[in-house]
Amino acid sequence: MWLYVLLVSFLWAAVWFFRDRQMLSSFKDKYVFITGCDTGFGNMLAKRLDKKGFHVLAGCLTLKGADSLKRATSPNLRTMLIDVTNSESIRKAVEWVQTEVGGKGLFGLVNNAGVANPIGPTEWMHIEDYRKVMAVNGFGVIEVSLAFLPLLKQARGRVVNVSSVLGRIAANGGGYCISKYMVEAFSDSLRRDMYHFGIKVSIVEPGFFKTGLTNLEAIEASLRQLWDRMSPETRQSYGEDFIAKYVKVQNFIMNFFCDPDLSKVTNCMEHALQARHPRTRYSAGWDAKLLWLPAIYLPAFIVDIVLANILPKPARRVR
Ligand SMILES: NC(=O)c1ccc[n+]([C@@H]2O[C@H](COP(=O)([O-])OP(=O)(O)OC[C@H]3O[C@@H](n4cnc5c(N)ncnc54)[C@H](OP(=O)(O)O)[C@@H]3O)[C@@H](O)[C@H]2O)c1
Repeated sequence: MWLYVLLVSFLWAAVWFFRDRQMLSSFKDKYVFITGCDTGFGNMLAKRLDKKGFHVLAGCLTLKGADSLKRATSPNLRTMLIDVTNSESIRKAVEWVQTEVGGKGLFGLVNNAGVANPIGPTEWMHIEDYRKVMAVNGFGVIEVSLAFLPLLKQARGRVVNVSSVLGRIAANGGGYCISKYMVEAFSDSLRRDMYHFGIKVSIVEPGFFKTGLTNLEAIEASLRQLWDRMSPETRQSYGEDFIAKYVKVQNFIMNFFCDPDLSKVTNCMEHALQARHPRTRYSAGWDAKLLWLPAIYLPAFIVDIVLANILPKPARRVR
């Protein structure tokens, strides 16, 4: 009986292994549009796909980001300014991509643009803080995907949505985790609905990496803004030294977990674009594989206890 189970498992693993390694033969006629190419993963992916011969259509938020990307890449790579929270900007990007691809359609859409701040205790947030983050990470992904679907259908293309391990486990307050849960759910429904049209949808779930998004100064500055605008009563319930302790924990987490090797994430994005059979989910980074994703399967009370003991406790806590 055990031998049979072992044999079936081995066969399954072998088939998966060989299937996963089958790649498309040429990328020369393939157009890929990426959002958030100014910095971080998007910037690195644009450069790497450009080197591989893809036609990269790089969406940048700023002129500065677009110019510096252009200087570092081949004349094949084209840039366009896009703010994923602005419907008019998205419409213009679709028009531009349509002109660039001619009759070929769009082979790849990478929804990478994202913001994180403010993150912090839920009670410190205003509704606008949630709206701001979800506008980029959640509704931005949805609106851009919907707008590009006709071009993706034409090429039987692929969508690669950048989520996070925090889209599987809500380890901090603020809009970030919620927005990434949105990305997960939207991607699952998009994949199922567009399957019939040959469109493949992959989700990339990175752990913690050293980019602008995990910049400690920015996280600390945004935390202090939340702290300063709170009522004196709420501040007192946490205690005056709470913010300093909270920042210290964030410092520890970012220094301990943040991996400087961004290629672990771009490798996943590249596989999703190049493989004959792209995976549904990719996890990138040792912390994602060994810590965050396994934690999802633990009983919630264990995760609650661990997080409650890592984060500082309010001064006027009742338990
Ligand atoms: N770094 C991590 O640890 C980590 C972990 C999991 C998931 N992720 C995800 O990975 C993706 C890329 O982030 P990153 O780590 O590479 O950080 P990043 O360097 O800050 O890149 C994010 C990019 O998105 C752009 N952007 C921000 N708001 C935008 C908007 N409204 N419209 C269009 N573009 C906008 C930013 O432009 P500016 O630079 O000009 O602001 C920036 O180029 C994000 O979706 C993020 O949530 C990151």
